[in-house]
Amino acid sequence: MKRKVKKKPFIIIFIILIILGAGAYGVKYAIDTINYHKTYEYKFITLGYSLEDTKVLDKLSDLNKDYLLESEYDKEIISLINEKYFIEKNLKEYIEFKNTNDYSLSDVVALINTHAFHEWYEVTFDSDVSKGNLLIANKFYKLGPSYNSDNMVKVSIQYCYGNNQMLTEEAYNAYIDMFKSAKKEGLTLIINSSYRSYEAQKDIYNEYRDMKGEEYADSIAAKAGHSEHQTGLAVDIQTYGSTGATFENFDEFKWLQENAHKYGFILRYPKDKEYITGYAYESWHYRYVGVEAATYIKENNITFDEYYAYFVER
Ligand code: DAL
Ligand code: ZN
Repeated sequence: MKRKVKKKPFIIIFIILIILGAGAYGVKYAIDTINYHKTYEYKFITLGYSLEDTKVLDKLSDLNKDYLLESEYDKEIISLINEKYFIEKNLKEYIEFKNTNDYSLSDVVALINTHAFHEWYEVTFDSDVSKGNLLIANKFYKLGPSYNSDNMVKVSIQYCYGNNQMLTEEAYNAYIDMFKSAKKEGLTLIINSSYRSYEAQKDIYNEYRDMKGEEYADSIAAKAGHSEHQTGLAVDIQTYGSTGATFENFDEFKWLQENAHKYGFILRYPKDKEYITGYAYESWHYRYVGVEAATYIKENNITFDEYYAYFVER
């Protein structure tokens, strides 16, 4: 006799399983949704950012993400974060500064990174003298009155005016190489000023100030402690027949524009960068920073102040 298989229980079990499965899926979906709502991605999208934007924002620390979430959607934030010299710790300062000034984003980054959004000398920091050739001295970073490199050498009379010029040994050797290369092309680079002590710098600044006033003095001379000349890494270059700013009309200047970086020197106060360097254009003032930094600075058309903030101090 054939046994009749009862189908009904199987159908009931099957239906129960489907209901349980759907329920479990529903619960999982609800949990996932709740969890997704807690993510930065969801919160940023809710604020107005795109999914693509959230990938850029995700690079920030949670602290900075929370800071951005407390503010309104900002259409410039992604471009700001993608700026070449963006330093995350400066995020709040960039935002406050860009929202209250009319600079391009790259200028905002440069001005905040270098402190040049402040009035000159408004804030000052001790220069980190352990940085060697990358030591900075400018209107925000100062050297102590007694700071001197312990590696200074006297410049031979064949390379300079006067008989009391000094440079660090490495800068001097680099200068000699540069001098010889220029000489092969019939050009003569003459050091007009090099190392200056704190006291000597004070006298120079005071002299300009007494002659032409503080504003003029500040555009051309550093206050004592703030001059690169105290580092033994700076040279003022002239040639036969040139004086001061006329140097830029000579072939020696043009040669330096093309070649100084190969010997580790940079034009330290370029045209149109006064708002970052704090000094009027000086065609004669060169600073030794080593070949790697000099090449980067020239190729990327930035100032040493910007280079220092991004590559040395950070
Ligand atoms: N002329 C440069 C800025 C100095 O005095 O150091
Ligand atoms: Zn100089």
